[in-house]
Amino acid sequence: MQKTVVNSWNEWDPLKHVIVGRADDCHIPPEEPALDAKVPEDSDMRGQWGRRPQETIDRANELLDNFASMLEKRGVRVDRPTSIDHSLPATTPDFHTESQFGCMPPRDVLLTVGSEMLEATMSYRCRWFEYLNYRPLMQQYFDEDPNFRHESAPKPRLTDADYHPDYLSEKIGDAKRLEWAAKKFFVTTEEEPLFDAADVLRFGRDLVVQHGFTTNLKGIEWLRRHFPDHRVHTVNFPGDPYPIHIDATFTPLRPGLILNNPQRRLPEDQRGMFEANGWEIVDAAQPAHNTPPPLCYSSTWLSMNVLVLDPKTVCVEKSEVYQAEQMDKLGMEVVEVELRDAYAFGGGLHCCTADVYREGGCEDYFP
Ligand code: ARG
Repeated sequence: MQKTVVNSWNEWDPLKHVIVGRADDCHIPPEEPALDAKVPEDSDMRGQWGRRPQETIDRANELLDNFASMLEKRGVRVDRPTSIDHSLPATTPDFHTESQFGCMPPRDVLLTVGSEMLEATMSYRCRWFEYLNYRPLMQQYFDEDPNFRHESAPKPRLTDADYHPDYLSEKIGDAKRLEWAAKKFFVTTEEEPLFDAADVLRFGRDLVVQHGFTTNLKGIEWLRRHFPDHRVHTVNFPGDPYPIHIDATFTPLRPGLILNNPQRRLPEDQRGMFEANGWEIVDAAQPAHNTPPPLCYSSTWLSMNVLVLDPKTVCVEKSEVYQAEQMDKLGMEVVEVELRDAYAFGGGLHCCTADVYREGGCEDYFP
C-alpha cells in the first residue's frame, strides 16, 4: 500500500486521497444550546434524542460505502474513520451531555491546509470528542508521512457563557432570526475561540471563513494567528436564518468560478477580492426537493454541497437534477452519486468527506 502524503490547498485540485465518513452509531444528541439554535423550528427532530434507527444507519452506510468504492474506482484512495461509542455521555469539568453525535461528517471536524490537518474546536458539546473517530487515521498519517503536521485547536470549555440565551427560546421565528443574522448576532458568544472546520473554504493562500452559529470572530482570529502565511477573510450570508457550515452556501468549483446560494448571497461589500481578480460568483440552481429528508439538520440546499474531483469533474447527488444540469452548462463533467438517504447524518457529498491529498501547491489566486 502506498504511503500517505498529506497535501491539499484548495477545494478543486485533482483529488487523490480522501476520508469518507461512516454512519455507524450516529446519535441524535439531547438538547444543548448551540445545537438547539440550529435545529429548524418546524423540525421533526425537536424534543427527541437517542441512537438513530438502525435501518437508517444501514442505509446511510450502504450509500457511503458505494460512494467510497466509486471514488476508489476512479483512482482515489479512500480511508474511513473508526467509530467510537457515541452512546457514551461526554463529561468535562465544565459540562455534561448524555450522548455524542457520530463520525459524520468529517468535513466539520478536520481542516486540511497543505501538509497540516487541524482538528477544529467544535462548538457543540456533543461533538467535543468527535476527533477521536479520526485519531487512528491521524496516527497512521503521522507514521507514514514525515512532513504531516497533526494539529488540534485549543479545546473550548463550552460553558453557558459560550451561548447567547436569546437563542434558547423554543419559537424565535425566521423574521427575528434573519434580523439577528443581519446584525451578526449569533448563538455563540465571543467568550473563547470557536470554529467548525466546515466553516472554512480553502483558496490557496486565502482562507474564507463564515462567521455564524458554529464559528465566532475569536475562532477566525485564532485561525489567522495559526496560519500566518495565509490571508483569512471573514464572510457572512445574511439570508441564512441558521448559518452553520459554509458548504451549502458558497461552493468554489475551479479557479475563477463559485456557486452561491441565491437565498444567501454574499453581500456586495464582501465581494471585493473576487471581483478584483475576475472571479465569477453565480447563483446555484434550485434544489430538486421541497423539504429535507426525515430527521435531517440541513436544508434542501445540500443540492449544492458537491465534491469537486478536479477542475473539470464534480460529484453531484443523483436526485439533484437541476444542479447537475447547471454543472453541465458550466462545462463540468458530472458524476452522479446517490446520497440523499445519508443527508440526515450531517450533510452531503462535500460534508461527508475530508481531503487528505489533492495535487498542486499553494497558489495565490487573489494577488
Ligand atoms: N447549513 C447548511 C444548510 O442546511 C448545511 C451545511 C452542512 N455542511 C456540513 N459540512 N455539515 O443549508
